[in-house]
Amino acid sequence: MNKLYLWGGILTVLMVGATYMAIGMTKGGLNGDIVNTLAVLGAIAIAVITIWVVVKYVRQMQTDTASGELAEENWDGIGEYKNDLPIGWAVMFLGTMVWGMWYFLLGYPVNAFSQIGQYNAEVKEKNKKFEAEYAQIKGERLVEMGESVFLANCTVCHGINADGMEGKAANLNQRIEKESVEYVIKHGSNNKLLGMEMPMPDRNGLFNANTGALITDAEIETVAAYVANGFQGAGADIFAGTCAGCHGPDGRGMPSVAPNIREFTTDLVVNVLTYGKKGAIGKMPALDMLNKKQKEAAAAYVISISKGE
Ligand code: HEC
Ligand code: HEC
Repeated sequence: MNKLYLWGGILTVLMVGATYMAIGMTKGGLNGDIVNTLAVLGAIAIAVITIWVVVKYVRQMQTDTASGELAEENWDGIGEYKNDLPIGWAVMFLGTMVWGMWYFLLGYPVNAFSQIGQYNAEVKEKNKKFEAEYAQIKGERLVEMGESVFLANCTVCHGINADGMEGKAANLNQRIEKESVEYVIKHGSNNKLLGMEMPMPDRNGLFNANTGALITDAEIETVAAYVANGFQGAGADIFAGTCAGCHGPDGRGMPSVAPNIREFTTDLVVNVLTYGKKGAIGKMPALDMLNKKQKEAAAAYVISISKGE
């Protein structure tokens, strides 16, 4: 007998045996279970057919000689036979195209049930109930709620005392630190702090009206310290000449123009939580898992601690 058939036979027996043992061992034997039995029969059929097909074609490769009509063109003496497309190949090729169209246009389950869809719908429902239930909360209670939100969601980065854990995140006990102000003046800022696209220009767009020139390094340092120290000390003139036009004479901001950089506001914190923030310290991700009321509560808490309460 041809060696090939012999090895094919041995391999078939081995695979069938291995299949039987795998099922027999993991599933506690066939036990007349129809599903297991079908699985084993299927596996045996696949093993037998695979090996039969492989043996057949290997045999064919061993014994076949080239025949048929040669095509006209040849490349360095290497020619091509004029063979028809194998019918099975052609059917599969066309079938894949038709199936692809169907799947792309109709088959893909865009509107069908999905776990993510169900989850999102339930979260939405929950948030609606939550907001209805807690809509009336304000003042002290809102701050308390914010403290819980803060402890659960913010302490990993901002620390239990909201001090930013030595520069890992912003220190929320004060409005802003000097390094951050300097960074913003030098690089500009584009964080949707006003809830919309309204970037602050970098230093190449910041003129000091008092001197008529672009803001200088020394001025940046002075005015940054002034802002970070709660609008005290030297730098008031630079602020008035360069920043007040947008941030207002006292730094408390102007609606749709520039944010309050003197103290935290609900809008600012809510926007930071909604859009995330990039700056001198690093990157804070948007915290999408919080609903509107929770964001407002977190803001109330941040406002309360930054005032030293
Ligand atoms: C052309 C208007 C304009 C001028 C002039 C301007 N700013 Fe701003 N500033 C903005 C806007 C708008 C934002 C909010 C940008 C954003 O959404 O990220 C901002 C953001 C900031 C922030 C970031 C606040 C935070 O919480 O991170 C700081 C700090 C700041 N400005 C300081 C200054 C200082 C200091 C000056 C003067 C040297 C100045 N700005 C001049 C418009 C201005
Ligand atoms: C994954 C870490 C991380 C988490 C979680 C996080 N933050 Fe932040 N947060 C940061 C970083 C980093 C910054 C500083 C970004 C920068 O360089 O300006 C920041 C900045 C801020 C600012 C902006 C301060 C400013 O200068 O305008 C506020 C407000 C804030 N966080 C509040 C919160 C609150 C409230 C929570 C919880 C609900 C929270 N953060 C959760 C990392 C985090």
